[in-house]
Amino acid sequence: MAQQVKIFDTTLRDGEQAPGCSMNLEEKLRVARQLEVLGVDVIEAGFAASSAGDFAAVKGIAETAKECTVASLARSVTSDIDAAFEAVRAAASPRIHLFIATSPLHMRHKLKRRPEEVLARAVEMTKYAKGLVSDVEFSCEDATRSERPFVAEVLRAVIKAGATTVNIPDTVGYSTPAEMADLVAWLKAHVEGIDAVDLSVHCHNDLGMAVANSLAGVHAGATQVECAVNGIGERAGNAALEEVAMALATRADYYRASTRLDTTQIYRTSRLVYSMIGQTVPLNKPIVGTNAFLHESGIHQHGVSAKRSTYEIMTPESVGIHQSSMVLGKHSGRHAFEAHLRELGYRLTSEEVAGHFESFKQICDKKKAVSDSDLAAIVNNRLPADGAHYLLENFDVHSGKETTAVGVISLGSNGESFEEVSLGDGPVDAAYNAIDKIMGMEENELIGYSINATSDGKDALGEVVVRLRNGDRLATGRGLSTDIIESSILAYLNAANKLLEAGWGI
Ligand code: KIV
Ligand code: ZN
Repeated sequence: MAQQVKIFDTTLRDGEQAPGCSMNLEEKLRVARQLEVLGVDVIEAGFAASSAGDFAAVKGIAETAKECTVASLARSVTSDIDAAFEAVRAAASPRIHLFIATSPLHMRHKLKRRPEEVLARAVEMTKYAKGLVSDVEFSCEDATRSERPFVAEVLRAVIKAGATTVNIPDTVGYSTPAEMADLVAWLKAHVEGIDAVDLSVHCHNDLGMAVANSLAGVHAGATQVECAVNGIGERAGNAALEEVAMALATRADYYRASTRLDTTQIYRTSRLVYSMIGQTVPLNKPIVGTNAFLHESGIHQHGVSAKRSTYEIMTPESVGIHQSSMVLGKHSGRHAFEAHLRELGYRLTSEEVAGHFESFKQICDKKKAVSDSDLAAIVNNRLPADGAHYLLENFDVHSGKETTAVGVISLGSNGESFEEVSLGDGPVDAAYNAIDKIMGMEENELIGYSINATSDGKDALGEVVVRLRNGDRLATGRGLSTDIIESSILAYLNAANKLLEAGWGI
């Protein structure tokens, strides 16, 4: 019989803490909602004690997610556990995820604690967390470089103290698949009580083996895999959720394990996460890359047209990629728009559909055919937020090889129009300087800018994501248009409007 494996998603904790992957509260809530639709078992929503932003995100997700467990990470100290508890307590199924390092290297140089002190703390803090919630996960950080008998001793003790999941992270991506399998099998044989709890693996990708190590762990008996959408995470990242899920589904004959995931939501989830962090998918990324299901060579094309399985081990449809024959355009009504989104697998409220339909209509004025990837961009990129302080009325931007770029920007706010002219190092800089002048935000610092074409062709939509800093406040903005200057302006304005909102931050 197939073993049921839990998918513990850490996109919003380990993934989000990686440089360039930060998300604000609104973005985290959107990702969490999609993770629920995807069907993950656990969302690790953040590290509540690490910042006010993380606390708010964990709390917000705990209050809204109904279909899965919501976890917060906590060091093995009471203040972290208290913060984690406060953040997750409203969840339908709350979990506290405790960790302490168990490798000689970490204990000696980082914790400056003897192994017996680490063991005592692990037990004491597990009991403390267990007094607050029934679902407690305990992780031996750097488990794969720890001494096995010590890991076994810690796991045995925390299980006795009430841990319901024990996790063995390959924190620095050092393990090989054979070693991981051997460690899981060894622990299952040497830790009393381990079969009564979930045994989890959490693998990093420093040597490119995170997915292989996670799968080897499952093959040896692990019942939970910790992974992140698109493999984002510390340094080279975590095991990619989509790769783990599709390996288990495609090679069920070998792994004899299944997950609760609706794999047809994978592509959508991947696109959403890339869009939220302002990154683009590498062409050859397994499962979700643009080339993942393309067959270029004649021999392959011939084989696929004769029988798809000659060169396709899984179908694009199984991960939610549809070769749609329907193209939407300016004559498409709201009904067709909504039906098509539903056919593509989006689960949206009628207010969301209404908002996206408005964006769609604006785009149809400039672009004849709106493809499925354009639609994904429309759904993932909210155009200037409702109630925005300033809205774009007009822009006129000029640049040339021998001339200094100049931008004229008109913004509307509270029924009044404001116009400013500014010079800049290029058209985008000139426009941004003019916006800063109007909004009185000259100290805005642009700390991130990315642009991505959502489809092929000269009339492709340009999706821009900017990150702005103003003092200690940060905001992300996004904009979408067939005109990349306009999408750049919309993205900047979106972020600047958020900065104006008191207390906005990532
Ligand atoms: O990589 C790691 O060891 C972790 C733990 C905190 C679970 O992320
Ligand atoms: Zn990690």
